[in-house]
Amino acid sequence: QQNIPKEETLDHSAALLREGYLFISNRMKKFQSDLFETRVMGKKVVCITGEEAARVFYNTEFFKRKGAAPYRVQQSLFGVNAIQTKDDAEHLNRKQMFMSVMTSSHEKELADMTKNQWDSVSRRWEQSDEVVLFDEAKEVLCRVACRWAGVLLHNTEVKKRAEDFYAMVDAFGAIGPRHWEGRMARNRTEAWIKDMIKKVRRGTLKVDSHSVIHQMAFYKDAEGNQLDPRMAAIELINVLRPIVAIANYITFSALALHEHPEYTHILHSRNKQYLEYFVHEVRRYYPFGPFLGAIVRKDFVWANYPFKKGQLVFLDIYGTNHDPRIWEEPDRFKPERFRGWDGNLYNFIPQGGGDPASGHRCPGEGITIEVMKATLDFLVNKIEYDVPDQDLSYSLVRMPSMVRSGFVMNHIRRL
Ligand code: HEM
Repeated sequence: QQNIPKEETLDHSAALLREGYLFISNRMKKFQSDLFETRVMGKKVVCITGEEAARVFYNTEFFKRKGAAPYRVQQSLFGVNAIQTKDDAEHLNRKQMFMSVMTSSHEKELADMTKNQWDSVSRRWEQSDEVVLFDEAKEVLCRVACRWAGVLLHNTEVKKRAEDFYAMVDAFGAIGPRHWEGRMARNRTEAWIKDMIKKVRRGTLKVDSHSVIHQMAFYKDAEGNQLDPRMAAIELINVLRPIVAIANYITFSALALHEHPEYTHILHSRNKQYLEYFVHEVRRYYPFGPFLGAIVRKDFVWANYPFKKGQLVFLDIYGTNHDPRIWEEPDRFKPERFRGWDGNLYNFIPQGGGDPASGHRCPGEGITIEVMKATLDFLVNKIEYDVPDQDLSYSLVRMPSMVRSGFVMNHIRRL
């Protein structure tokens, strides 16, 4: 235990804000270790990285989630007491409901709706001087998500609702105004969706019985109780918000295409498999989720470290996706690296690790992949555009990161 690297000074919250996505991997490199102890936000935290770390982190014998997510993150990103904070039977029961609305036919339906939306907005683009892809994507995905889920969305409110959905995501690594904007966005969105849930329950708003809103409104927990209307709204928002968040990956995809034009002709051939390699590489290479937190459930030893019940542990997502033991030349964008990838559940974890049905891994990974593929196909095969001078950089410090300019396109031609 003497050899376990520890950061000696008092609290490293400032360093976390200063170093962002690289906070954990910088220290792993310095200590030449898979594990170190530090203090953030007044708490001792054990940080772990890599495939074996992900494997232990998703072992529910050793870790639970209750108590891991800071209240400020629940008030902005997740919603208070949402699925992300649940364990055991309560988690599994609720997760089953999420999984049941995210089957491959739902993924296909969402991908088709996304294609149609791009086709429709690109008619307007031909008449525009320039468009900002990130802003367009948020609106397209907000329309798609709401229509798919059975949520009523008037044309006049699309922009505002789309901004609110993204503001909740944008708040997760923030202190100060960006955090408060996320909270206000959440309050507005919860009030809007809660009202709709009540109407669906009363029958004053008729929706398809297979729709996500119907499923959420009438879902019963293991004891046979319906969620209170606010909780049902929070969980429905847990489906809508992350679909809008795919806008960030879409913008990174456009950046990747721009910086690696050699892939355009490969993707021109509509090579379906290659679309997937490209989308995987975007999710591996670019920063979005930095790390995840969980609480030690019982004392155990891993990597010679005695984990103690109640301890907070961070699993490094960004670092694992850039771990040189897993990825050759991790800091190069190389979609073809996924050609031989075996679908390992613990070494590629942009949306969490393990089995989504039994653990906390993102249930929306298939949706993310299909929506991204549909969009990439649109960008490569359905339009041509120019990319004017702009700031295409992105930060590894600001969390969440994004392309600074939002990716401006002009001279757009439909093919
Ligand atoms: C959980 C990332 C898209 C729904 C998660 C987790 C991550 C993540 C890192 C946490 C995993 C864990 O706690 O172990 C992402 C990213 C996305 C995305 C980067 C791309 C924009 C989606 C989509 C949906 C979705 C499209 C739904 C349509 C959820 C839900 C959870 C979750 C409900 C909580 C699962 C649980 O606690 O059991 N996501 N996600 N996500 N995601 Fe996603």
